[in-house]
Formats: sequence, structure tokens, C-alpha cells
Amino acid sequence: MSSSRITFPHRITKTEVLSINPSDVKFELSADPSVHPYEDPTFTTSSSSQTGKAILLAAERLRSSDVPVAFPTETVYGLGADATRDEAVRNIFTIKGRPADNPLIVHIGSLKQARELLRPANASPTETFEIPAIYKPLIDKFWPGPLTILLPLPPNSKLSPHVYATQTTVGVRMPAHPVALALALASNLPIAAPSANKSGLPSPTTAKHVAVDLYKRVELILDGGSCIVGLESTVVDGLSSPPAILRPGGVSLEQIRECEGWEGVIVHKEDGGGNSGGGANGAASGAAPRAPGMKYKHYSPTCGVRLYLPNTDQPSVEMLKSTAFGSDSRVARLGVLRTRQWKELDDKQVEWLRERNVELVEESLGTSGEEISRKLFGALRRMDDEGVVVVHIEGIEEDMEGLAVMNRLKKAASVVIRRRDV
Ligand code: TXA
Ligand code: MG
Repeated sequence: MSSSRITFPHRITKTEVLSINPSDVKFELSADPSVHPYEDPTFTTSSSSQTGKAILLAAERLRSSDVPVAFPTETVYGLGADATRDEAVRNIFTIKGRPADNPLIVHIGSLKQARELLRPANASPTETFEIPAIYKPLIDKFWPGPLTILLPLPPNSKLSPHVYATQTTVGVRMPAHPVALALALASNLPIAAPSANKSGLPSPTTAKHVAVDLYKRVELILDGGSCIVGLESTVVDGLSSPPAILRPGGVSLEQIRECEGWEGVIVHKEDGGGNSGGGANGAASGAAPRAPGMKYKHYSPTCGVRLYLPNTDQPSVEMLKSTAFGSDSRVARLGVLRTRQWKELDDKQVEWLRERNVELVEESLGTSGEEISRKLFGALRRMDDEGVVVVHIEGIEEDMEGLAVMNRLKKAASVVIRRRDV
């Protein structure tokens, strides 16, 4: 992996991957029904476990080193640093090749930690700061989990300004993954962490994906297996009126709309105009993208991506073949990712293509929104690994998990096929 174009101040000679078992981590939650169970949790691991040692080592690195640490969350792997330390946070941007105006999400392990982010620098230690009430129903229902809320930045926030970039708010999330939670608790730090991929590539859902992208750019990767959700958190802004979803993700629009105060939530469109692509479900919003990250090209494998919207026909073998060339090799590899309607190509079709020097790399992403979300980024990466020149992808309806899936796919797509184009 070449690192010639980054000017990373630390010489990193090796990248260590430590296997951990998330189910080794046990939490003690608050039993008081008047407070949230994750008000101030503690965790334990069996003393002999590699998991416990790895979490403590990673927490120590977060506290003492400026080199960020990669760790699993339930959505995607994160690249974490102490959110209060400038140099460590700056290194996240350098390692990923991330634009400086794209703010980072801060991960916390307790509500107590979340409230600390609201504390102005000169406030008395006895004073407490409350999370805006609009978020209470969301926090009660979805934390810990794949939901990021925007909190107002206090005067002289102790966070590094690189975390929030040009914003007056900070995105905060309590992850559900035991390792991510334990890391925030063990380090007692707010952890700034974007997805642990090279900027622009699909987010990593396994430690292997992280290792491929960030080899010798990080020193430590905690390997907790595959991410269960597979797509990033939903980013919501309850400070504006009406409240808005800035990035669709692991918690759906429909789930958010069920919460008190969020019935009229709008979905911001990435390119700044009109409806969100939420179809009948997404309320219109004409404003510019509010999550700065949404304006950048994202999630793209290197190969071409042809996305077929629902109600378009499955491409014929002739159509597939017509998109396969443009590569230098004599045999072109072509990807097909199916979801709900497309049929697996039969032996005769595969043979027809092979006779014309086209090899197929085919995969079903599944039919449920959850399964498609979980498999999507890994399947996009596989296409590059297998040397595919173009992948044809069967899109899904934009309801429930489909809104986030199609948001990522539309960003990855070089061509979007609508009914009239076929
Ligand atoms: O699931 C996730 O959210 C993962 C895991 C690691 O937690 N993290 C993640 O981070 O996806 P990242 O940096 O890849 O995406 C963060 C998104 C970007 O679109 C960014 O612009 C937006 O959140 N964001 C962060 N802070 C913001 C703020 N203060 N205002 C508006 N948007 C913000
Ligand atoms: Mg990302």
C-alpha cells in the first residue's frame, strides 16, 4: 500500500491487528428507572481475556499517542482519537486523506460523558448541562445505537476545533458495539472517529477492510468481526426547526418519525435542492446539505457502478456484455449485485458471456433491508478485489433501510438507470 502522498509525521513500521471477542465485555447499567440505563455504566471483561487487554491497550494509546486507533462499531469500523487533542485529531484527517471542512462524530460511552461536551471551559465543576429536550425520545429509544445527534458547542469548548471544523455544533453518538462503548469508558475520553477507510472508498465493515486501507498508517486495529448494521449512523439535527435528518443511516426515517417532536422531520438532500430522495416518505427541503460530508463523493469502489432503480428491468446478457469492455485485459470481469427481483444468471447465460470473454462475479445482497445494508460495502469492495470493471447493482425502494442503502448507492454510482433509460 503506497503512502507516498501523505505527509504523516509519525513513522509507522507495523500495523498490529488484535482479535477481540465483543461478548467478553459485560456492562453494569443503571437500575434506577428514572435515569437512562447508560447514564453512567461500567464494564468488565474476564481478567485473563485478550479482549480486556486489547481494550485497555487501545484506551492507553488514545490517551497517550497521537496516532489514531481503529476499532469496531455496530455500523462500520471507526478511526478514533482523543477529541480534545489537536494533533491526534489532525492525524485522522491526514491518515484518511479527508477534507478538513468535514467534521467528525464524537463517540461517548455514557450520557454523563455526552453532557460534559456541553460544558463551557470556565463553568464551575458543580454546574450541570442538559442535552436539549428534543433529543430525549431519540436517546431513550436509540442510544446506544446508530444515531448521531448534533449538540450546540459551548463557548471555549474543550474539543479540538478540527473535530467540528466550520460548524457551531458537534455530532455525538453513543455506539452500541461493546468494544466501542468500553473504549470510550476505559479511556474516559470523547473519541472523535470517522469511518476507518481511505476517504472516498466504501466504509470498512471488517478489520481486514481497515487493514487494506490503512496499512502502516495506523499502529493498532481492534478486530471485533463484521459490523452488524453495515451502514453508518443516521445524523439528526434537532436544533433547527423543523428537525432534520442530515444523513440517513442505521436508524430509519420511519423510526425517527414515531418519536415525539420528530413527526415532521425533514430529510436533507445532498445536492442541496428539492426532495431528499425519500420518495413519498421524505419531506421536501430546499436547503444546502447540512452534513458537510454529504457533498463529497463517497463509498465508491474503483470500478464503474451502474445502479438500476426499482422498476427497471434486469439487464440482458447483451446489455451486460456491452458494458464490460474498456479494460485492457482480453477477458473483462463484470459484477452483478442482486437484491429483491433479479434472477441469478443461468449456466447458459454465463457460458454465453464467457464465450465473449466476459467473466461474471455475481452475488446476492439478500432481500431484507437489514441484510442488504450489512453486506453492501463488503460487496462493493469485493468487486475491486476481483478486478471487476463495471458492477451492475439492483437498487431497492427508498423506505426503511432502503433510504440509507440508496443514498450510499447513488453516491457510488457512475450511471443511474431509470425506467426510460433501459
Ligand atoms: O456510524 C457512524 O457514524 C460511523 C462510526 C465510526 O461511528 N462514523 C462515521 O463518520 O460515519 P464519518 O466521519 O464517516 O461521517 C460523519 C458524517 C459526515 O457526513 C459529517 O459531515 C457529518 O457526519 N457531521 C459530523 N459532525 C457534524 C456537524 N457538527 N454538523 C453537521 N454534520 C456533521
Ligand atoms: Mg465516512
